Amino acid sequence: MAITQAPRTRSDAVPLRTYRSTGRPAAIAGLGVYAPEKVLTNRDLERIVDTSDQWITERTGIKERRVAEPGTPTFELATKAARAALDDAGVLARELDMILVATSTPDGPFPSVACRVQDQLGIPGCCAMDILAACSGFAYALSLADAYIASGRADSILVVGAEVLTRYVDWHDRGTCVLFADGAGAVVVRPAQQGQGFVSWCLGADGRGYDKITCGDIPRGAFAAGEADPKIGMKGPDVFKFATDIFIRQAFAVAEAAGVTMDDIDLWVPHQANRRIIEAAAHRVGLPMERVMINIDRFGNSSTATIPLALQDALDQGRIDPGDKVLIAGFGSGLTWAACLLEWE
Ligand code: ACO
Repeated sequence: MAITQAPRTRSDAVPLRTYRSTGRPAAIAGLGVYAPEKVLTNRDLERIVDTSDQWITERTGIKERRVAEPGTPTFELATKAARAALDDAGVLARELDMILVATSTPDGPFPSVACRVQDQLGIPGCCAMDILAACSGFAYALSLADAYIASGRADSILVVGAEVLTRYVDWHDRGTCVLFADGAGAVVVRPAQQGQGFVSWCLGADGRGYDKITCGDIPRGAFAAGEADPKIGMKGPDVFKFATDIFIRQAFAVAEAAGVTMDDIDLWVPHQANRRIIEAAAHRVGLPMERVMINIDRFGNSSTATIPLALQDALDQGRIDPGDKVLIAGFGSGLTWAACLLEWE
């Protein structure tokens, strides 16, 4: 595994690890999303906390977000997105060899959301598990799917990102409650033609930053502390700096690992956490905004669901064509990060 030193690093930054996909090529064969119907606008939030539509729009780019009804289980959202992805791929549920659900909001410590999705699809047998890497989880799970297809251990893998984050939102904390949302997205990963699909990856974590984005007691964690109703806490400005930096570094890292430059990237689909983070990073890597996908204005930050939701919008808007080089990138609590470069099938 190559270790790439990015062009510019913060003094506390760790070297990034990158690798190229090898073995049998794998690609996204189908995509599906689900967002709850209920829309929570900035104006609605003005009635809940001391904030304004202007502040939220200017500082985050968010205008509205989708929220699930209280009590909605994550597996419900995940299953709806999964069915849509299977339809889009033309793959039968019973053909799946593996189900991976990336989520930070499972419906309990166990069983996994993935096992509940498998049960909903009525296909007992294939292996099923959850991945917890916060907002990087979708790209982490995609990398596992790529590796299993590459090694011939699986032919059809369902990768889902699904969250009911609003369960953990502190509606008194204006620094966080304006950001988060609920949603789900799924892809089916299948073997691809040579020269198509996933090309290169950059995955990592820096546990020294475990206290930057949390849900419950620091440092023990909500479960260990016996906390009944943990809420999201965040050191917003620290996360902002980390996020911008890691977006820039991993964009260069995956491009270098793939042997391409930023000029070759047709569309960057970043995790939708804050419009200003995305714009700052795009500017620094030299990507014009017409080659950057942003839909945070309508969906807010739904963690593992933002990347598939953004991919779906990009496809619906005709912004991805077969053969395009697409850069996917995430970051999140942990701290974690994950990016990949893929050639759209
Ligand atoms: N409405 C009005 N004022 C607000 C609000 C709000 N919703 N939130 C904060 N403010 C105020 C603060 O109180 C502060 O006021 P003060 O100067 O009087 O003290 C002022 O605005 C500036 O606060 P900052 O926190 O410095 O504001 P900033 O410009 O950094 O924006 C934000 C805050 C939007 C949270 C930003 O820091 C950010 O986006 N950080 C990254 C968040 C992120 O990416 N999270 C990813 C989570 S991923 C995961 O794994 C779950």
